[in-house]
Amino acid sequence: MLAMQHIRHAYGHHPAVEDVGLEVHPGEVVCLLGPSGCGKTTLLRIVAGLEVLQQGSVDLDGRAIGRPGQAHVPPEKRNVGLAFQDSALFPHLSVRQNVGFGLEALPARERRRRAMELLDLLGMGRHADDYPHMLSGGQQQRVALARALAPAPRLMLLDEPFSSLDARLRDRIRDDTLHVLKKVGAGALLVTHDPEEAMFMADRIALMRDGHIVQMGTPRELYCAPADPFVVTFFGEVNEFEGVVDQGRVATPVGEVTASGMEEGRRVRVMIRPEALRVVALEDPPAGHHSHVIMAKLLGRTSLLHICAHGGDGRESHLHARVPGVFLPAEGQPVTIRLDPSQVFVFPAAAGA
Ligand SMILES: Nc1ncnc2c1ncn2[C@@H]1O[C@H](COP(=O)(O)OP(=O)(O)O)[C@@H](O)[C@H]1O
Ligand SMILES: [Mg+2]
Repeated sequence: MLAMQHIRHAYGHHPAVEDVGLEVHPGEVVCLLGPSGCGKTTLLRIVAGLEVLQQGSVDLDGRAIGRPGQAHVPPEKRNVGLAFQDSALFPHLSVRQNVGFGLEALPARERRRRAMELLDLLGMGRHADDYPHMLSGGQQQRVALARALAPAPRLMLLDEPFSSLDARLRDRIRDDTLHVLKKVGAGALLVTHDPEEAMFMADRIALMRDGHIVQMGTPRELYCAPADPFVVTFFGEVNEFEGVVDQGRVATPVGEVTASGMEEGRRVRVMIRPEALRVVALEDPPAGHHSHVIMAKLLGRTSLLHICAHGGDGRESHLHARVPGVFLPAEGQPVTIRLDPSQVFVFPAAAGA
């Protein structure tokens, strides 16, 4: 439905987006994910038509809507819905009039019906006659979303639409938004810097860095088959070790891991997610050295263990293990550690390291 190819964009001499290609299929939610300043908003503004395309092409439903120096379909003719972080409502219009604003082509009754339908979907039907200043921030966000969805755009463009909300409200509005998007069958391109939000919302994620897409795929592909160390760390803290490939394996303080596809003798970087460590308390530890607990903290749904691991070579290292539920062994508790290999990743060590 949306096809972008070889997009480049610069502000003056400062490149913001470099050679990005991206597609959104009908009904699909695609997230642009990445740290602040990596070019997410710029890409979204190009799709919306708020930035004039400098290089590349943008097609919507097979129609060229952006070609440098030629086609530039203006934003209001693109059949896209826009909801940005601080999408302002019209203060002098009621909630229902705000939502009906983009529907002037419809007869008044139809317009009213459609506005109410969207407000009900987003749980705001009761506030139809209120004015924006009477609403909380979260309610205003819902109305802004309803307004963007009301003309049944083929594609919704959302730029950090939940970021000004507090955590619990954000979870609910996110959930409602996801269900509304899926119900109306709109495709969506959603910008976020929050990996959990991206995984919650997206069918596919494009992870960006410095104006490039580093990896594009399903949440599972990015999380379980990351293309490089940046992708691994973007989804959360990891334990890192360096080692050398020996007979296809690398020794770490928590045992050997497989280094498939790596040359013998090569220095590698081993990244182990905290949830890959299976920690078992040793009740009757045999004599000798054991790994032990330094500290255990309850984080709510998980417990975080700080562990001193004893490697085969006698060296100690500090690592973090995340285990489900309440598991709070005492300081000094001897433990054994097993690894879930699906959350262990091996990459070539950086040159010169
Ligand atoms: N209007 C602008 N003028 C100059 N530089 C800009 C402008 N908008 C964004 N930039 C720069 O372009 C880069 C990408 O910005 P942006 O697309 O807003 O990133 P993101 O949304 O990922 O935080 C940043 O380095 C930013 O400082
Ligand atoms: Mg942005």
